[in-house]
Order: sequence, then structure tokens, then C-alpha cells
Amino acid sequence: MNEIVLIQSSLNPKSKTAIVLNEVKKKLEEKGAKTFLLDLRDYEIPFCDGRKFEEYPSHLQDIKSILDNAHAFVIGFPVYLYTFSGVLKNFLDIFSSAFHQKVCAIVANAGGSNSYLASRDLMNAMSFEEGTLFIQPTVYTYSKHFSEGKITDEYVFKKIDQMIERLIKVSNYKLPVPAEH
Ligand SMILES: Cc1cc2nc3c(=O)[nH]c(=O)nc-3n(C[C@H](O)[C@H](O)[C@H](O)COP(=O)(O)O)c2cc1C
Repeated sequence: MNEIVLIQSSLNPKSKTAIVLNEVKKKLEEKGAKTFLLDLRDYEIPFCDGRKFEEYPSHLQDIKSILDNAHAFVIGFPVYLYTFSGVLKNFLDIFSSAFHQKVCAIVANAGGSNSYLASRDLMNAMSFEEGTLFIQPTVYTYSKHFSEGKITDEYVFKKIDQMIERLIKVSNYKLPVPAEH
């Protein structure tokens, strides 16, 4: 139970959400945290149809055990129609119970500057359903923060640092103690 699991839920091969989550992962690892990136582009996940969880394909059990063993989460999503994407909604329809009473940070990536309340929809749904505790700040990025597939705005790095610091603190994640010289 000592991994921070990052969920990347854009299916775009050139996803900017993925760029930000990879940066979050890198920064967590620099601090000594153990991480696992669950990139939904790498998994076939069927639509939720209300069947029992055990009746889904067996690789979903593997995903469930990764989630169940997570200490805390970072959920990354592309903003679609002012909210979180349908891909993430379907993922949570199937796996929401793995987020029960856990601590979670959010990365939301949009095309423009005005859709920042998209994360509120995620917070509302998961707080009511599973008691998931969301920390702030949310990292909200959009097209202006990137150039040629890279983050180019210092603001994003600063927000990532603040988010990580808060996630580690609130989830009581035990970072390794640096050796004394
Ligand atoms: C169906 C669809 C709906 C979108 N809706 C919004 C929106 O409401 N607000 C916004 O700022 N950008 C919107 N966008 C732009 C995406 O958020 C943007 O392309 C972003 O980079 C997606 O993240 P990704 O690169 O990780 O896939 C939309 C894009 C698509 C394809």
C-alpha cells in the first residue's frame, strides 16, 4: 500500500494530460515516492453495464488490485464539454469503490482557460459516492501552457509542486528519510 497511482484518462496519442501526469510522476519519484502510472490508452476497458465486477474480463481484476493497493491517487483527465471525460466516467463507474475514503489529487487539461470547474464534477461525484478526499490545488492546464509537446509555463511546475506537497501531507505518505553523511 505505498504506491501513489496516477490515472491518465485521455485516449489521445498526443495527450497533454499525459505530459502533465508524467511530470507529476517524475517529481514524485525525485522525492522518493513510489508511483504507478495507469495510462488508460494501454487498457481495453468495456463500457460499464451494471454486471457484477467479477464478470468483467480478467484484466480488469489486475487493474482493481493496482487501485486497491494504492496509498493515494492523482487522477488526470481531459476536459470535454466543461466536465471530465466520458472515458474517466466509465472507468469510475466500474472502479469507484477502489477510491473509498482515499486521498486524491486532480490534473485537469483543457483547450482553454475557462473550464476549470470541470474538476468540481469529479469531486462532487466521488465525495458523495465514496468519501474520496480531494486535495487542492488542482493542476489545471490548457493549450497556452505547452509548446511542441512540452510544458513551457513555470506556473504549471509551481502548481504541480504545491499539489504534490499537499497530497503527501494529507495522505500521510511516508517518504524515505535521506541518509545522513
Ligand atoms: C469532445 C471535446 C470536448 C471538449 N470540450 C472542451 C471544453 O469544454 N473546454 C475546454 O477548454 N476544452 C475542451 N476541449 C479541448 C480539450 O480539453 C483539449 O483538446 C485537451 O488538450 C484534451 O486533453 P488531452 O490532450 O489530454 O487529450 C474539448 C475537446 C473535445 C475533443
